[in-house]
Amino acid sequence: MAILDIINVPDPLLKTVSDPVDEVDDQLRRFMDDMLETMYAAPGIGLAAIQVGVAKRVIVLDISAEDEENTPVYFVNPEITWESEEMSVFNEGCLSVPEHYADVERPASVKIKYLDYHGKAHEEKLDGLLATCVQHEIDHLDGIVFIDYLSRLKRMMIIKKVQKATKDSVVL
Ligand code: NI
Repeated sequence: MAILDIINVPDPLLKTVSDPVDEVDDQLRRFMDDMLETMYAAPGIGLAAIQVGVAKRVIVLDISAEDEENTPVYFVNPEITWESEEMSVFNEGCLSVPEHYADVERPASVKIKYLDYHGKAHEEKLDGLLATCVQHEIDHLDGIVFIDYLSRLKRMMIIKKVQKATKDSVVL
């Protein structure tokens, strides 16, 4: 396994609409293993392939608590097939927008269909944090980052701070 480089805003790659995966094969599974290792190392609870520069519709997540065993989940070609009318608000962050958080309102529950790590098709209803995480990550596959939901002023301010922090840091 390998730790991959995570790209930050305002990298234009983050605006890419990612392509569906044709087949879940060993090569893709190796890539998903690398994505998961990258996410754990960051550390984060969700990662979309485009955040490591790969425009494929693949996300990995693990929302288990720190004192629980890891429970990674993999979603290939995830599609939202239903959204609840009820909304919920979570304070979201993103590995591509380090150190910045904002409240984002999204449907509280969604149904999604996707292929798992082995290429098997599923359709499931998700609630709570998992529903929000999956929507945040599917947004990445459509070129949307959570700061796109904020005012232009707020977004520009965050991007400038991320750029400055990246410029000032020494990565060894
Ligand atoms: Ni994100």
